[in-house]
Amino acid sequence: LWTPGRIIEDSIERVREQVGDDHVLLGLSGGVDSSVVAALLEKAIGDQLTCVFVDTGLLRYQEGDQVMATMAEHMGVRVIRVNAAERFFQALEGVSDPEAKRKVIGRLFIEVFDEEAGKLEGVKWLAQGTIYPDVIESAGGKTGKAHVIKSHHNVGGLPERMNLKLVEPLRELFKDEVRRIGVELGLPREMVYRHPFPGPGLGVRVLGEVKAEYVELLQKADAIYIEELRRHDLYDRVSQAFAVFLPVKSVGVVGDGRAYDWVVALRAVETVDFMTAHWAQLPYEFLDQVSRRIINELRGISRVVYDISGKPPATIEWE
Ligand code: XMP
Repeated sequence: LWTPGRIIEDSIERVREQVGDDHVLLGLSGGVDSSVVAALLEKAIGDQLTCVFVDTGLLRYQEGDQVMATMAEHMGVRVIRVNAAERFFQALEGVSDPEAKRKVIGRLFIEVFDEEAGKLEGVKWLAQGTIYPDVIESAGGKTGKAHVIKSHHNVGGLPERMNLKLVEPLRELFKDEVRRIGVELGLPREMVYRHPFPGPGLGVRVLGEVKAEYVELLQKADAIYIEELRRHDLYDRVSQAFAVFLPVKSVGVVGDGRAYDWVVALRAVETVDFMTAHWAQLPYEFLDQVSRRIINELRGISRVVYDISGKPPATIEWE
């Protein structure tokens, strides 16, 4: 019988058999899969696990701190946090093409992770949050955005170079099973049921050239939007929702003066498989509140628009 408890026990048993007394390295992204692997391995092998968390500066509002609070403080996982935001912003200077940005971010991510991993001694295994759909997708040789990004978190040639063997405890599980296991292991529901987030993060939600100033505004606007979605009990009714920063200036009025500031777009979609999607018909009253809060609370944003494009022809992300 499939119960989260049984799966956890089985996995723990198998991991212990597999790695013995060896040390294991895991790249923690803040996403569901790698978090569940971390929680599971912590239970199975405790101190033999070391996680490396690369904070790219392109994560959601305060997400880096949240990852550390949950994984390191609450779950007792050993996590090395690498604050690499400066490096990412520098590398992205002058790069505005979406695919070029993805490449820069992916490459630097691997570089930073490799550097940190190289400092660790005696590691024999690399743990990965590969789940069953990833296995099928790779086998089919499918090339899509999601696939490219998966490989970005699946850390390049590191296993060969450091002579690491792979341990992938979620390989046979579907996403909903991974989530149930996560909850059973004590991860916060909010983290486990979070909407998907692209590997390149806010790097593809700030349109065009990525600047620290834009990312900061976007993080705050997005946090307001998500907070209101939760408060209105709408978060779990949409499949994915987020804000996008448009590097376009538009005129507004502030008091007696004139403002000339940036635009934020809100996106929310309903979908089963993320291959096709409908834009979510969020209540006008709700959208009105979000728009007011963003414009009133954030200096630098003078206009908020709502994206009413379906997929196809539009994609869910703007880049
Ligand atoms: P699109 O924009 O292609 O997105 O309709 C479909 C789903 O995939 C996510 N997405 C990505 N995920 N790396 C990822 O890991 C990426 O580069 C990437 N691009 C899009 C997107 O958030 C949506 O859930």
